[in-house]
Amino acid sequence: MTILDGKKVSDDIKDEIAAAVAVMKERGERIPHLAAVLVGNDGASLTYVGSKVRACERVGFRSTLIRLPNTTSEIELLKEIDELNKDEDIDGFIVQLPLPKQIDTQKVLMAIDPDKDVDGFHPTNFGKMALDMTTFIPATPFGIIELLERYNVETKGKHTVVIGRSHIVGRPMSILMGRRGFPGNSTVTLTHSHTKNISQITTQADIIITALGVPGFLKAEMVKDDVVVIDVGITRVPDETRKRGYYITGDVDFENVSKKSTYITPVPGGVGPMTIAMLLKNTLLACEWRRQTT
Ligand code: GUN
Repeated sequence: MTILDGKKVSDDIKDEIAAAVAVMKERGERIPHLAAVLVGNDGASLTYVGSKVRACERVGFRSTLIRLPNTTSEIELLKEIDELNKDEDIDGFIVQLPLPKQIDTQKVLMAIDPDKDVDGFHPTNFGKMALDMTTFIPATPFGIIELLERYNVETKGKHTVVIGRSHIVGRPMSILMGRRGFPGNSTVTLTHSHTKNISQITTQADIIITALGVPGFLKAEMVKDDVVVIDVGITRVPDETRKRGYYITGDVDFENVSKKSTYITPVPGGVGPMTIAMLLKNTLLACEWRRQTT
């Protein structure tokens, strides 16, 4: 069993990006600038956005954090997005999800200039991804693809089962694993809350990608021997014995499933750090693509 070490691979990617930034600086080129919009005070979102800003510092990017109150109206947020779209100094930006319930998420994502949409959530970019065109790939699926590639995990002709059909992870993941090329060329089954007898499907899987947010959902009896397991779950479980008051756990019963796996991602230290590294990668691409067209 090999651990797919997202912490190490993401550190490698950050080093590669930092080296690219050093070359840009030497050439007197613009340095990538990422902005993040955070609406409200959700604890997990605060942590994620904080990590994204720190990661920018580490690779030498410029970053801007825009914090708006929980009571922000849809119009106010759309105005902020319009300003970021027009701001020549910003290469890419993200609006951290989830948004407060008075705001229509799809409307907000549609308002982002696709050329600055480093999350890859705009329908234009999602469509381009589905059509194998060069574009921003959502950071979490992009990170999983990168992990499979760097560990040379065979995906061709394999049966990949994706659990969860979220727009951020499950849906794009199902498209990417079925694409031509490597990683890809898998036969994909996308399962969700209406799937009947999910164990019957997961026991047929060569690769399982679970993005459900249910701690310990995937148990040893639900997988076959030599399975590859990618755990995208990150649930905070309250625990007063910890300094933070919680611990982070994934969708997989790691202790038992890992015994049957060839490759498996841990939580934490698997997919999570890869997401941030790939957001940086998309921001670097945004900056490079902008330079080529202006
Ligand atoms: N919330 C959870 N994951 C993500 C992500 O990748 N991007 C944004 N913007 N919000 C998220």
